[in-house]
Amino acid sequence: MNTMMNAEVSAFGAANSTDNLHYVSDSGQQMLVQGDCLEVMARLPAESVDLIFADPPYFLSNGGVTCQSGKMVKVDKGSWDRSRGVEANHELNLAWLRACQRVLKADGTIFVSGTRHVIFSVGFAMQQLGYKLLNDIAWFKVTPPPNLSCRYFTHATETILWAARDAGSKHYFDYPLMKEENGGKQMKSLWSIKPPYKSEKRFGKHPTQKPVALLSRIIRAASRPGDLVLDPFNGSGTTAVVAAALDRAFVGVELEKQYLELAASRLRDPAGDLEAMARA
Ligand SMILES: C[S@@+](CC[C@H](N)C(=O)[O-])C[C@H]1O[C@@H](n2cnc3c(N)ncnc32)[C@H](O)[C@@H]1O
Repeated sequence: MNTMMNAEVSAFGAANSTDNLHYVSDSGQQMLVQGDCLEVMARLPAESVDLIFADPPYFLSNGGVTCQSGKMVKVDKGSWDRSRGVEANHELNLAWLRACQRVLKADGTIFVSGTRHVIFSVGFAMQQLGYKLLNDIAWFKVTPPPNLSCRYFTHATETILWAARDAGSKHYFDYPLMKEENGGKQMKSLWSIKPPYKSEKRFGKHPTQKPVALLSRIIRAASRPGDLVLDPFNGSGTTAVVAAALDRAFVGVELEKQYLELAASRLRDPAGDLEAMARA
């Protein structure tokens, strides 16, 4: 492990009181922090993070319906997912993306996932802040739930924006590894990745849990072993378990205690996630 990274993780640990440090791995390299990501990121040293994955609120939980296990259910992922109106949503996206830019190293990059409800604001905020947009990846979810209203195409994709900190960044990309994984041809920006397997939900569910296969591709493509990865919207800890499995240091931030507990259980006993990563 790289000693700079150790120093950065421990500086971060020291800056956070034991009240909000929810979990620290035995190696000291992965930690989960309870709190609002804006406040927690303000305590992280500037230019300390190599890679960020952010799966922010999509502002989806506004009284619509969706299909879950064949049944019509209201979309209600939690109060954190309610829309505050277009302008306020954009201000929030600008605020956390600004905080991410401050903690990214000069050559660091960020991946942000989203649907049409949030991704245009995220992309515009990135342009306003001077990030360098690298790719807009279409994640094809392979087995999406049917559209019950039959008035729209079935929603089957999410967009993942990849951006470098600024115009001068010399971002890292493991091109040979991605090419090898794509049978010797250049990896395209269209990724077919199935939803999480049951083994990824063995300790309980999160309403917007991402598959480990998605994070595995992102982390392997855009970071090296020993790098520091940050997830400001940690949820069930998908980024955390993949970062730990791939020997990356990690800081995850989450508001809700129940999700921190879920993430810590996955980190303590990662067998089900490792099995899912091996199947991908
Ligand atoms: C879309 S989910 C992330 C799911 C995660 N990628 C996973 O695989 O489980 C967003 C998470 O961010 C949390 N959250 C929302 N606003 C937050 C904030 N301001 N600071 C920290 N966490 C926040 C929510 O509680 C929720 O668990």
